[in-house]
Amino acid sequence: MKAKIAVLPGDGIGEEVMAQALRVMAQVSEQFGIKFETTSGLVGGAAYEKYGSHLPDETIALCKGSDAILFGSVGGPVSEMNLPKWKNCEANSILSLRKNFKFNVNLRPVKVLPELAELCPLRDEIINKGVDILFVRELLGDCYFGEHKTFKQADGKRAATDQSIYTEDQVASVAHAAFKAARKRRNKVTSVDKANVLDTSKLWREIVHEVGKEYPDVTLEDMLVDNCAMQIIRDPSQFDVVVTTNMFGDILSDAAAVLPGSLGLMASASLNEDGFGLFEPPGGSAQDIAGTGKANPIAQILSLALLLRFALSQEEAAQAVETAVAASLNAGYRTADIVGSRGKSAGTESGAADGGESIKLVDTVGMTDSIIKNLASIKTLLRV
Ligand code: IPM
Ligand code: MG
Repeated sequence: MKAKIAVLPGDGIGEEVMAQALRVMAQVSEQFGIKFETTSGLVGGAAYEKYGSHLPDETIALCKGSDAILFGSVGGPVSEMNLPKWKNCEANSILSLRKNFKFNVNLRPVKVLPELAELCPLRDEIINKGVDILFVRELLGDCYFGEHKTFKQADGKRAATDQSIYTEDQVASVAHAAFKAARKRRNKVTSVDKANVLDTSKLWREIVHEVGKEYPDVTLEDMLVDNCAMQIIRDPSQFDVVVTTNMFGDILSDAAAVLPGSLGLMASASLNEDGFGLFEPPGGSAQDIAGTGKANPIAQILSLALLLRFALSQEEAAQAVETAVAASLNAGYRTADIVGSRGKSAGTESGAADGGESIKLVDTVGMTDSIIKNLASIKTLLRV
């Protein structure tokens, strides 16, 4: 099969981790016979320098002509946030892409891998029950795309409003996505809202239940967002699929992202109703470590796996990439963000460095080398 991929590395660690994901892509191509045609485009601060825009028309056109978008990260260093190059950079690039391509469903899997359990801030007896949650976040409604206004009141004091809207079609679409996803997992959907206060949430709850009738095999429960925030920390094993509104999904998925131990392990998919998608690590541009070789490439590599699964329906290849990542972690390969207490004494080297005990502290390239090696051996096993 052939696939045209728009590659948008962006800023900060985006370039360096994307380069590693492309190496993995080349290996996938060789093993699974997928012909990738990749074209790079500028986005974020990198685009602003050349075009004066965080999301230039050239980049939108490139995405339009592609089968999927592999996205890195955007945003500048905290100390330079007010420079034109970085001002509103994330919102201008990410939100505009969502709006342009009508990406209404955002999938964020959160898993605690047993081999990385020591990085999870929760106690063993809580995480031993297993943490494997899929956040399904609505992406185009709520207060994100309603009218934003800052104004002066009659008394001269400043005020601001952000309008929050949900239509029944918007809710139904994301609810279907959640129920379908649950059918491929553990058949449970937790719908999170604030229906004790908000009209948008009352509508949300009503529509999710209407849609739920079409999925009688899936258990549906409602949870108020404040309670959910608590439950994610108290007992995350109770969740399978969590479906929620744009703003609540933004906050809860970041809170849950702490559980696996590092944002460098998180991948996400944003999809529209035609199945077109953008695949990105939601962890940000990590400007503080950009260029040091320390960035964890796993989030970008797992985003490639999601691209293979959702954009290209290459489930076997997607699983192979995920298995290769797990095998590297199992073998003790660690970038600095996931090294934990056992590997603290290990020095960073590119490639298979031997560190403290069985932990091997590696850099961005070293981690990818190991993943590619594992990927190659998976195919050998499948062939047998
Ligand atoms: C995310 C981000 C974005 C959001 C920001 C950068 C606009 O936090 O993808 O979660 O709020 O959706
Ligand atoms: Mg966020």
